[in-house]
Amino acid sequence: MRTLVTGAAGFIGSNLVDRLLADGHLVVGVDNLASGRTANLTGALRSERFTFIEASVASPELSEIIAGVVPQVVFHLAAQVDVRRSVDDPYQDASTNVLGTINVAEACRRVGTRRIVFAASGGSRYGEPTALPVGEDVPTNPLSPYAAAKVSCELYLGAYAGMYGLAPINLALSNVYGPRQNPHGEAGVVAIFGSALLTGHPTTIFGDGMATRDYVYVGDVVDAFVRAGEAQTSVTGTFNIGTGVQTTTVGLHGLMSEALGISEPPRYSGARTGEIQAIALDHTAARTTLQWKPIVDVRKGVYLTLAWLRDALDISLTATSEA
Ligand SMILES: NC(=O)c1ccc[n+]([C@@H]2O[C@H](COP(=O)([O-])OP(=O)(O)OC[C@H]3O[C@@H](n4cnc5c(N)ncnc54)[C@H](O)[C@@H]3O)[C@@H](O)[C@H]2O)c1
Repeated sequence: MRTLVTGAAGFIGSNLVDRLLADGHLVVGVDNLASGRTANLTGALRSERFTFIEASVASPELSEIIAGVVPQVVFHLAAQVDVRRSVDDPYQDASTNVLGTINVAEACRRVGTRRIVFAASGGSRYGEPTALPVGEDVPTNPLSPYAAAKVSCELYLGAYAGMYGLAPINLALSNVYGPRQNPHGEAGVVAIFGSALLTGHPTTIFGDGMATRDYVYVGDVVDAFVRAGEAQTSVTGTFNIGTGVQTTTVGLHGLMSEALGISEPPRYSGARTGEIQAIALDHTAARTTLQWKPIVDVRKGVYLTLAWLRDALDISLTATSEA
């Protein structure tokens, strides 16, 4: 398959690129390196089947790039991903997330690429649902500019399906974690706890630690993207990609400390405004239609992530001491 991945240098995008290359596909990666890193593509760049183009999805150039590739599938993951930043600067968030997505859809319909697999946000599309795990039929209730932008992308892609016969699949992802997640960001608690615990720094839990999230391993998420990319074009719409299992922040911290043999308790700080209390996604539709199910449970996933972080931190510590 000839594929194009936006957000290719990011956490999930780079893991997807590696999987597509391992499956034998041709991959063009597009990223403006706003939060992504070319170091995430070190392996991919060795492949003759991979090309990297530094560009913004919101730029006019994107249309030429897609016209040059004529991809069979576009995996659209490029985004401004920081919820807090979306609150501080909703214009910038919408210009990347909404206008960037319209730009991708326009470029696709011009060259006849029907399949777009879009990284939607299952963690934010339902607001604070009353019953968990939540299914896709529950009305959307975005509570931040980021969430509103992601839901509007789903609506735009749906409109393009109706107008031009595009075949979008929106994968509504829960809390994704795993190798290459940035431990220096605001989100990504597994990477943040992991790097603090591994380097002997204190860890902080915001709130009482009883808030829950549905942690899904990046390898499983990438598998969902691949299945969506290979599905019949008659399959369209939104699919939840999560485990359905709720894990508390305290529980996650406990699992990670236990894996590392650390007994130091976390610190507690005030709850951050705007954060939801509980979320878990029902993935029955993905299981039935995409034959997708999560394979890696949180205990195993945390172990795999810690193993990766240990290596990654060692590399940067060595680089610092040599500098
Ligand atoms: N990580 C999660 O838990 C999660 C959950 C739900 C949805 N998502 C979605 O999955 C996608 C990937 O997220 P991630 O966690 O890998 O984040 P990430 O920040 O690692 O990846 C996003 C990538 O998009 C790139 N990018 C940003 N603006 C761009 C632009 N204008 N043009 C081209 N590239 C641009 C960044 O440089 C980065 O490489 C995003 O769309 C995000 O909203 C992530």
